[in-house]
Amino acid sequence: MGKVFVCDHPLIQHKLTLIRDKVTTTKDFRELVDEVATLMAYEITRDIPLEKVQVQTPVATAECNVISGRMLGLIPILRAGLGMVDGILQLVPAAKVGHIGLYRDPQTLEPVEYYAKLPTDVQERELIVIDPMLATGGSANAAITALKARQCTQIKLMCLIAAPEGVQAVQKAHPDVDIYVAAIDDYLDEHGYIIPGLGDAGDRLFGTK
Ligand code: PRP
Ligand code: URA
Repeated sequence: MGKVFVCDHPLIQHKLTLIRDKVTTTKDFRELVDEVATLMAYEITRDIPLEKVQVQTPVATAECNVISGRMLGLIPILRAGLGMVDGILQLVPAAKVGHIGLYRDPQTLEPVEYYAKLPTDVQERELIVIDPMLATGGSANAAITALKARQCTQIKLMCLIAAPEGVQAVQKAHPDVDIYVAAIDDYLDEHGYIIPGLGDAGDRLFGTK
């Protein structure tokens, strides 16, 4: 069973409150999502392996650590996942970025894939699938399935807000995937919206409604 990490750092929680607030402007919403993504990236990269190297300081030889192991790949789910990419790249600028385009059919709530463009070495990378909202889990599951179909094996999921239903759905379909969220909310309403949530993440990020 994949683990669920709730990133409860006070700065993340404070900014998430502002993100939820319906009076927050598109500009502020976008900036806050970007900032929270940076802070969450700090948590999600906590278990990256290190290796020892020696460096010469001006006065001695120091035994130091550098990051080792697989390179990172960020996989935002279009479109709302885009809002978290730059914030993560602030911390891991060498990561490559692949895009998976999915939208939820408003009637069935089933994800429909309309785009996929991934780094050529995607299967060699440790991947972070990014989407602000984990509602039914259909979009995240479809994105993870699409990556596994391309022989990707090391996958984490990063979301701002999850519904319990979405967490369970991902854990059931992909028990090898750990999930990082800033909050797990109460439930999904009949339209598939997370309650209390933040509304439609894509619309709020891009000002489309
Ligand atoms: C939203 C959100 C997730 C998805 C979550 O995207 O960004 O991708 O819904 O719902 P699920 O867990 O039930 O699949 P949406 O389909 O609204 O597309 P958008 O990002 O283009 O706005
Ligand atoms: N997608 C969103 O953007 N918001 C929700 O509450 C659920 C799915």
